[in-house]
Amino acid sequence: GLDIANLLNTTGAVTYDPGFMNTANTESAITYIDGAEGILRYRGYPIEQLAENSSFQEVTYLLIYGELPTAQQLDDFDSLTRRHTLLNEELKNFFGGFPRDAHPMPVLSSAVSALSTYYPDSLDPFDPDQVERSTYRLLAKLPTIAAYAYKKSVGQPMLYPDNSLDLVGNFLRGCFGVPAEPYEVDPDIVKALDTLLILHADHEQNCSTSTVRMVGSSQANLFASVSAGVNALYGPAHGGANEAVLNMLKEIQAEGTSPEDFMEKVKNKESGVRLMGFGHRVYKNYDPRARIVKGLADDLLHKFGGDDELFDIAQRLEQKALEDDYFVERKLYPNVDFYTGLLYKAMGFPEKMFTVLFALGRLPGWIAQWREMNAQGPTKIGRPRQLYIGESKRDYPGA
Ligand code: ACO
Repeated sequence: GLDIANLLNTTGAVTYDPGFMNTANTESAITYIDGAEGILRYRGYPIEQLAENSSFQEVTYLLIYGELPTAQQLDDFDSLTRRHTLLNEELKNFFGGFPRDAHPMPVLSSAVSALSTYYPDSLDPFDPDQVERSTYRLLAKLPTIAAYAYKKSVGQPMLYPDNSLDLVGNFLRGCFGVPAEPYEVDPDIVKALDTLLILHADHEQNCSTSTVRMVGSSQANLFASVSAGVNALYGPAHGGANEAVLNMLKEIQAEGTSPEDFMEKVKNKESGVRLMGFGHRVYKNYDPRARIVKGLADDLLHKFGGDDELFDIAQRLEQKALEDDYFVERKLYPNVDFYTGLLYKAMGFPEKMFTVLFALGRLPGWIAQWREMNAQGPTKIGRPRQLYIGESKRDYPGA
């Protein structure tokens, strides 16, 4: 029912591009992706080299400030974020208000949003000092909030952060430590989680990041903008996919379906079943992050006591996809989420926490993109057009 001639008369020429498949919303100097070649670079550095040689803290600095830090800069940055991990004691009460089995993602976004109420001295998006303060506050406090959300979901007491530990060690202790007992940080788990966080740190204008920019374009502060990004990430077509992948693998295992039969169901569109962790808007070759995650799973899953049977099902699904025209023609390959859930589970995280881990990883990207947008002062507010297809003018009865 679209009357194009009428539309052009009333709105002038507009591009109609649902899902922004072909619309660039911004220039950006942060992340480069070549979807056809399977290339991902942060500030010019290939993701493979960063995953191999860098740390999440260093990558965070790189994304936000544009260059790798010197040893001194990294040390200063690390001390600054370590000093701000505590939450205002009143914010702790917030967690008590949610149901016992609350999903940690909406808890996370609510608490991040609430940071605006505690830090009026870091809300101006155009004051460099305030932007700096909100940056390190958010980097330091989001892992604490995430650990509290986890403790809440398992009914255990929350632990104050231990700032002698680095970000990842502190977060693991916050999740798995118990009061009055020493917590041994497993360096292999710290290293693997650190690498996974690097792989998630930015991905240019994905759904959650463009949400952060859209909200920020109204001059909303960093906490409000990032909280919106957390909500966008919660959806199963975006960050929620890692949780959905594991649920899918477990269902295949529990029902004793063969991976081959499951693939037939996926190919039958009427079933409404998608192969979760497969397909990507931009990568039409292979998601370079998925290759690194699969390598980690190969090396570490066994060591962490992971579920080999689920890994086997996943690999058989991938193999089947490689040989099947449906997937080949549509250029559907594993995305970053396909194997991450298996590793998270092996580290001890329940499915509900997987998307929270994604948020922890994506935080530096959200911050870097929001800062890039505001660096030159207010940007143009994000305001897409539409094609109206509703009723033409009609009169209210009796009018
Ligand atoms: N399983 C089965 N078929 C699929 C899948 C899949 N996972 N993904 C895409 N297709 C099919 C579609 O049915 C469509 O087929 P058609 O052309 O015959 O109609 C074709 O491939 C193109 O798919 P679109 O949905 O148009 O592709 P789009 O770029 O809009 O979607 C998305 C990308 C959302 C990632 C999609 O592939 C998907 O839903 N994947 C599963 C969820 C997932 O893993 N999300 C994580 C994304 S990555 C991230 O957030 C880190």
